[in-house]
Amino acid sequence: MAVVAWYWMVAALVVLVGLLCRYMTRNFNFWKDRGVPYMRPWPFVGNMGTVVACKEHLADVVFRCYRLAGDVPFKGMFAFDQPFLMVKDPELVGRIFVADFGTFHTRNFEVNSETDTVFANSIFGAQGRKWKVMRYKLVPAFSSGKMKKMFPLVDDVGKDLIQNIQKAVREDSAVDVRQVLTCYTADIVCSIFLGVEGGSLKNEDSPVCRQLHRFLRKDAFAGPAYAVFFLAPQLLRFLPFKFTSSDAEKGLFDTIVQVMDHRKKTGEVRGDVVDAVLRIFDDQDAETGKAPAMDEAWEQSTEQQDEVMDVIKAVSNIMIFLEGGFDTTSSVLTFALYELAFHQDVQEKLRQEIQMVTAKHRGQLTYAAVMEMTFLDNTMSETLRLHPPLNFVDRRATEDYRLPGTDLVLPKNTAVVVSLLGLHTDPRYWKEPLRFIPERFSDENSKRRPRFTYLPFSDGPRMCIGPRLGQLVAKTALAHIISNFRISPTAKTPQPLMKDPGKLVGAPKGQLELSFQQIPSE
Ligand code: HEM
Repeated sequence: MAVVAWYWMVAALVVLVGLLCRYMTRNFNFWKDRGVPYMRPWPFVGNMGTVVACKEHLADVVFRCYRLAGDVPFKGMFAFDQPFLMVKDPELVGRIFVADFGTFHTRNFEVNSETDTVFANSIFGAQGRKWKVMRYKLVPAFSSGKMKKMFPLVDDVGKDLIQNIQKAVREDSAVDVRQVLTCYTADIVCSIFLGVEGGSLKNEDSPVCRQLHRFLRKDAFAGPAYAVFFLAPQLLRFLPFKFTSSDAEKGLFDTIVQVMDHRKKTGEVRGDVVDAVLRIFDDQDAETGKAPAMDEAWEQSTEQQDEVMDVIKAVSNIMIFLEGGFDTTSSVLTFALYELAFHQDVQEKLRQEIQMVTAKHRGQLTYAAVMEMTFLDNTMSETLRLHPPLNFVDRRATEDYRLPGTDLVLPKNTAVVVSLLGLHTDPRYWKEPLRFIPERFSDENSKRRPRFTYLPFSDGPRMCIGPRLGQLVAKTALAHIISNFRISPTAKTPQPLMKDPGKLVGAPKGQLELSFQQIPSE
């Protein structure tokens, strides 16, 4: 009797797996039927097998597809059961990001708005009119005038950074660059987005920094989870994934509401992003004659209020800025120092420029001085070319779309992906693409490059909102470090520097040890 029961259970399981397998492979002829070359998918995982096994970064799979595509302008891929198109041709990239933005105004990335309230209410996750209104209201917070006002806050943390490294050099301990720069960017984002002192560089244990570190998923399954969020969000109906950690999210949310409340009550002005966001409320109040109640935040958010920046949206956006500015900036700085350690000639040239320009500004690293450093700018651009922190960008067609110059019609809701790293290292657009040569970004050389081949911040109306800020924070730190220290690799410096597959933003895997030698002041 028991044998018969087992027999039926096994048979039922086989049928179930068979049906599931059939369901998960139902789209696998999608690209074949349309005559598009594609990467061969595997049942259940599509082309994401190495991501699920935590062996490869999601962006590296897209990059691999870019390289395998050869001269074709696009190639099909599959995220689990979902087809998406990797677009390679810069002209098509321009159509998607800029000219045909009307069709591609939304990211494919999606979160469950019930569980991921912060992402759903932020500029990163919002769609349609809700996104448009938020973007329009938030863009002025990142103008060059605002950057100039924020510079003293950035510079203060830059000075803490130097003291932190000097202490390690005095104690003769090796510097884990990744760790120090993570502290620097954590302190920066706390200061300019929250108006509070992070204290990480002073080795203080600040609750807000702890929350910040835990906010985005960084656990063992983060890599596959990101593949679902970005490329197969349809699966979220069946999977209980959440983009952020709930308790860190709640803690950060409460901190921001408190800071905004305090500013509203005391009228304190710091010249930071909280000021700029509060200004949006003042403008709205002037229009509607109504002031928002900060402390009743959660209850007040209503879906139909797309036109208004309510408290939920304001706080959610500050949280997204915290995250958007944190990992990206620390990543680009880490890779910049890594490259400079291995390119002493570039490092020396950069040091000379920093010293010369600073001397012109009475020995002070001012905002104007940082803006004047063209080779610093070139060095930053070259780092972003070889190590773009977000190295692919996704979009979704919101209606059927015929790819210009072809017969291929992408049905509504098809996802498209652009490999920034692929474009940035394509030998058709870059001579010796894997070499670190900042001079390729001189005005003269930049003119010769085709458009849409260099996109570290993406392009078009939905591109990054914070390029000025990200660059200012990174350049200020570099100017401080390079004028104070000579950097070189140690026996423990990894070569090449591998990316951590569990991080959304390209971050080096493990420690990055470099040697810092203090330059005597003249
Ligand atoms: C070196 C630093 C940075 C890099 C390389 C970078 C890169 C990017 C990229 C590639 C995107 C995707 C754009 C698209 O989908 O077309 C993006 C979006 C975004 N970034 Fe950045 N970013 C950086 C720094 C920052 C900073 C400092 C902030 C802080 C405000 C920020 C906030 C955002 C936001 C809010 C979005 C979503 C914009 C929208 O959907 O309208 N980023 N970033």
